[in-house]
Amino acid sequence: MKPEISTHSSCSHMRTCVQLEKTSPLSGAESLSAHQKNMQTLSAAVDNLLKYTGFQDRARQNCVDYRLEQNDVYLPDLPAAFEGYTILHLSDLHADGLIDEGEGILRIVEHVPCDLAVFTGDFSYEDAVEYSVPSLEGLVPIVRSISSQDGIFGILGNHDSLEITPMLERMGIRMLLNDAVQLQRGTAKIILAGVDDPHFYKCHDLQKALSAVKPEQCVILLSHSPEIADEASRCGVNFYLCGHTHGGQICLPGRIPLFTNTRCNRSYLSGRWNCGAMQGYTSRGTGFSLAAARLFCPPEITLHTLHSGSLLGEIYNSVQESLGGWLKTAGHAVFA
Ligand SMILES: [Fe+2]
Repeated sequence: MKPEISTHSSCSHMRTCVQLEKTSPLSGAESLSAHQKNMQTLSAAVDNLLKYTGFQDRARQNCVDYRLEQNDVYLPDLPAAFEGYTILHLSDLHADGLIDEGEGILRIVEHVPCDLAVFTGDFSYEDAVEYSVPSLEGLVPIVRSISSQDGIFGILGNHDSLEITPMLERMGIRMLLNDAVQLQRGTAKIILAGVDDPHFYKCHDLQKALSAVKPEQCVILLSHSPEIADEASRCGVNFYLCGHTHGGQICLPGRIPLFTNTRCNRSYLSGRWNCGAMQGYTSRGTGFSLAAARLFCPPEITLHTLHSGSLLGEIYNSVQESLGGWLKTAGHAVFA
């Protein structure tokens, strides 16, 4: 069933202005060139560290050791019609930098049918420089291999310029720039909202994205980074999907990140987490940036399965189911 568009808005003007400001040599704000210099220094440091510790080859091979992670999510406000709804989640593909040209991702994705597929930003490898449009041809076969009943949606990340949006939409990815759509099963509806990059461009507008949401509706939010989780939780978002951190990409054993380029609660840096009543999931990312290297932090493709009810309720139900027969028998033995 095709999702119904509930709001139509374009935040392209704000994004264009901010991109211009960030790329201007006269800008007093955090500029893209300063950011790039910092990243180049960090990239060189990572390369040297791996070279001199003998981990370079292993770290490169790890970049294509894709893992399919399964995440069951229990949402008290989820309509019963959405029980078992599946969301395929890819993040931080940095598609023009993939060393296997996306073959490993395609091999997994083509065997995972889903109800919905989402990309949580960073389609591009290089930072957006002066409106350059990277070649994202490697993304085309991946998108074509996705079998998603309700379509494919995406948001922009801090590596993505606004100019790649038409290209992504031609591929079949519907981009949400501070916008939302309704997903429908029978008469039941939930909201899928998406915001622009909250990390570097800071063009996210949560209020605008959620403007058409009714208080009782279940909301899934796509945000490139977890940095607006607290605000989203206060706005009543139920499930928050993001990436950006790459889970650290280069980690110590036990997936302890050395660097995440993210300003937020450490528990939001990878995997599942919660913020108040809102549940969240941060992907370790499917691609890589800075250097073709991953240590103790394999790339991931995630399949989320939604369930209606709370996790405690689910535990109670399964315990009751297991004990039910035994209690009945014991009750009969005592009271018969
Ligand atoms: Fe990224």
